Amino acid sequence: MKMEPLRPILFHPHIPEIEYIEQTLLPDIYEVRKAQTVEELAGAIRRLGIRGAPALGCAGACGVALSALVAKAGTFLEFLFLVRSDAERLRETRPTAVNLFYGIDFVLSAVLTSSSIEEAKCNAVDAAKAVIDADTRTCHAIGKTGLSVIPDTARILTHCNAGALACAEWGTALGVIRSAHEAGKNISVYACETRPLLQGARLTTWELLRDGIDVTLITDSMAAVLMRKRKIDLVIVGADRIVSDAVFNKIGTYMHAVCAKAHNIPFFIAAPLSTFDEENSEDKVIVEERNPDEVRKFRGCVTGPELVPVWNPAFDGTPVDLVTGIITEYGIFSLPRDIETIKQLKRGKDMG
Ligand code: MRU
Repeated sequence: MKMEPLRPILFHPHIPEIEYIEQTLLPDIYEVRKAQTVEELAGAIRRLGIRGAPALGCAGACGVALSALVAKAGTFLEFLFLVRSDAERLRETRPTAVNLFYGIDFVLSAVLTSSSIEEAKCNAVDAAKAVIDADTRTCHAIGKTGLSVIPDTARILTHCNAGALACAEWGTALGVIRSAHEAGKNISVYACETRPLLQGARLTTWELLRDGIDVTLITDSMAAVLMRKRKIDLVIVGADRIVSDAVFNKIGTYMHAVCAKAHNIPFFIAAPLSTFDEENSEDKVIVEERNPDEVRKFRGCVTGPELVPVWNPAFDGTPVDLVTGIITEYGIFSLPRDIETIKQLKRGKDMG
């Protein structure tokens, strides 16, 4: 039986509210929650109830539109002040995934170029819907692009969750896997658990099992030996930000890229154009450092001494020379070779 597409974020402007799957509770509890204020939405983003770069872009976009809809302002200037402040609040939730800022800025600019409160509300809603629709189309296009690099039978390693739960629908890395499965290819996936918050174990395996795609869960430290035993044909992961010289993705991605290179295994990134921050380089990217307790405990279970010092970066940068190709909605690119093409595409692109 074919499952309904997973859509982790829905925007209901008439209520107004943002409905989202609370991802911290998966896989044991599937709960849909509602954010009716920007503060509630910001909380969901901070605790990773909503997560994954493209989904953060959708959340940021809907959050600014929600702000416009609920703003209680006497004048247009006061209205603009309130919406801008909410946009800043959303911007401060997480620093690394560039899609978040892209979504926020896209809707904010629709508000700022309006000339009345009513017009701004309409424009904000349209812009937020456009971000979600564009991400949905884009993920399906990434899936199609990726078909050319997936052999008819393929054992694929992935890290973290770059699936429907991380996007508006379908997914980026898992979007390629879904499209290949749908095209009749014989796909089996190794999902890394992705310490410390287990997005691979909790979310990727849940999504793939739901779609009937063959998946085996491994701990992050098992990937190297699988590659050495020639049990992985290619690696595909998502990205939170792609700069001119590196790809940022969930912590642990770099280690898989190094291992893939050592074993001559193709290492692909799947990401939309909105994940590129091509004017910047690795040294300019702020890597989010999260609460040490995420490493000392998991859901209340102690995994390390209470007072042990912890380093908990959420992401790492993989130098572009370790990346075989970046699968996008516009084709497969390689950096630094295609940087000018990326810049041109971004200049010419609008969300619709
Ligand atoms: O901390 P998270 O769960 O938001 O991190 C998510 C990732 O690193 C994903 O791999 C990335 O956002 C790509 S999602 C299509």
